[in-house]
Amino acid sequence: MTDDGHELIRQVRQRLESLRRAGVEAMPRPSVRAAAVVTVRPPIAPPPAPVPEPSPLPVMEPEPVALPVPEPPVLVPESVSEASVVVPVPVSAVGSLFDEPGFETPPVPASERLGVLETAAAEVARCKRCPHLAVTRTQTVYGTGSPNARLMFIGEAPGADEDRLGQPFVGRAGQLLTDMITKGMGLRREDVYIANILKCRPPDNRTPTPEEAANCSSYLERQIAVVRPEFLCLLGKTAAMGILGVDPMSSLGRLRGRWHRHSGIKTLVTYHPSYLLRNPAAKKDAWEDLQLLMKEMGLAIPGRKRGASE
Ligand code: URA
Repeated sequence: MTDDGHELIRQVRQRLESLRRAGVEAMPRPSVRAAAVVTVRPPIAPPPAPVPEPSPLPVMEPEPVALPVPEPPVLVPESVSEASVVVPVPVSAVGSLFDEPGFETPPVPASERLGVLETAAAEVARCKRCPHLAVTRTQTVYGTGSPNARLMFIGEAPGADEDRLGQPFVGRAGQLLTDMITKGMGLRREDVYIANILKCRPPDNRTPTPEEAANCSSYLERQIAVVRPEFLCLLGKTAAMGILGVDPMSSLGRLRGRWHRHSGIKTLVTYHPSYLLRNPAAKKDAWEDLQLLMKEMGLAIPGRKRGASE
């Protein structure tokens, strides 16, 4: 043995002896994790040329990293202005970058989706998470359309007509949305899926509160996970903030016209039909958004041949 080896053994003995004198009778065996970080270094100068040591230790899982909790983002009331921002949305109600890889639940087979959605709708019909809405609603408005839709539209909350009929987008704004789908995109309304951030009508059609949006978010996320559309079209600021959790100060004008992602789904933001009814000049922008969507979906744009270059 080298002099260095003898010196190391002497130091270890000395240390053990001092521990015994201090009352230590036994030493615990090092755990694998502890062993992974223990390096025995002789108290000598390092060798002149560093030789990489092969590690006999198992590869350890990295320590779980605590993810930062983002500040609550903000909802904008549709009825006030598409460009103003006032109401914070709780984190639990929004998506985030961490949604990127996709869904936590396995896909529901296409043939079972309708049944799964009907069961979920029945659960929502009994919901009292927002007791004040449970007493003012006529009924809940869950969603409508194809359980296997490639495209899902998401609005804000039921209005008076929807509350009365139990279907989303059946009033004036609903008629415009139907025109956008049928006359604009050349699809049938029953080919897409339509849902809202809230399943209950807020009294006086006010903007959903952050608490209401948070209470309802798991229902909508379940709908998205079951239908698993290829595309989401978010109608207005409330839907955009509720689903994307984007910078709360973003105006809808800055969110629209480009692709976002939610749970790995290609997601587009456009103006809410109610806003378009109040501001018809914005229909031009909304039509541009729909054309972007159609192009990505491989749908023919009226007046153009499919696949014609831009
Ligand atoms: N506005 C919405 O956001 N949703 C509806 O269902 C009707 C109007």
